[in-house]
Amino acid sequence: MQRGFVDLHVHLLPGVDDGPPDLDATLELAGLEVADGIDTATATPHVASVDVAEIPARVAEVNDALRAAGIPLVVEGGGELAARGAARLSPAELETIAHGPAGARWILLEAPLDGAVATLHRAADTLRSAGYGIVLAHPERCHPLFDDDMAGLERELKLGSLAQVSSSSVLGLHGIRARRNAVRMLAAGYAGLLASDAHGPRRPPSLTQAVRVACGFGLDPAHAHALCAERPRALLVEGLRPCTTAEAGLPLGAELRADEGGGYVAGRELSVVRRLPPAAPGFGSALPSLSS
Ligand SMILES: [Fe+2]
Repeated sequence: MQRGFVDLHVHLLPGVDDGPPDLDATLELAGLEVADGIDTATATPHVASVDVAEIPARVAEVNDALRAAGIPLVVEGGGELAARGAARLSPAELETIAHGPAGARWILLEAPLDGAVATLHRAADTLRSAGYGIVLAHPERCHPLFDDDMAGLERELKLGSLAQVSSSSVLGLHGIRARRNAVRMLAAGYAGLLASDAHGPRRPPSLTQAVRVACGFGLDPAHAHALCAERPRALLVEGLRPCTTAEAGLPLGAELRADEGGGYVAGRELSVVRRLPPAAPGFGSALPSLSS
């Protein structure tokens, strides 16, 4: 039974986007994934940079090369969909980049780095109306989602989206604001999972380090581990579905109370419950800039 971390956001395919330029570099990045404790990854190229129809064959080529090189990483196909491109994909292309079982398929949708929140909401609504759940890639880097006491982020969470926080944000690689947002999400229980968004040696996977840092802030170690292992694995196996209208009408607090176990995630029955219990008082206080 595989029990390592699962990385649902990594630019691993060779020569298609700003990830590895060739297969050798892909194998190097895969080795870094394994060294980070990851045994399963989804290759998530920027969808606009790749012929989506070619993704399955490219992923098969990578898996063949990994086996030949003796690198114990299993790769599944996927894609990071930009909000602006969401409406342009055909149903077949959406299916190619989606994950999860029938009835609970979901797509990795990029929170725009230029802060175009309205575009993001429109794209997410379009995907939901097509029946897909949303895993929101690095919302902590889309600062307007945090305006008005996180109103934009909470809108997505209420509609069933899960938030993928990047480990590199937790470590401060994308600036103090993204780091502050990431810690704020962890503290509020709004982080649905951690993923690397790794691109290569200069932007390597860092789940292990992020778990260590989050625990240093006061996050329960079992929860921190679940964000990198049990939750992303459950997303692949059990999937995620968008909320129904009735479910979406629930305030987040009610959703939290609905799960006496404290908030697990991702399964069909439990997909409306996505909050971890609030972190311990003082969580994040070890990060000086949080108080500034
Ligand atoms: Fe990415």
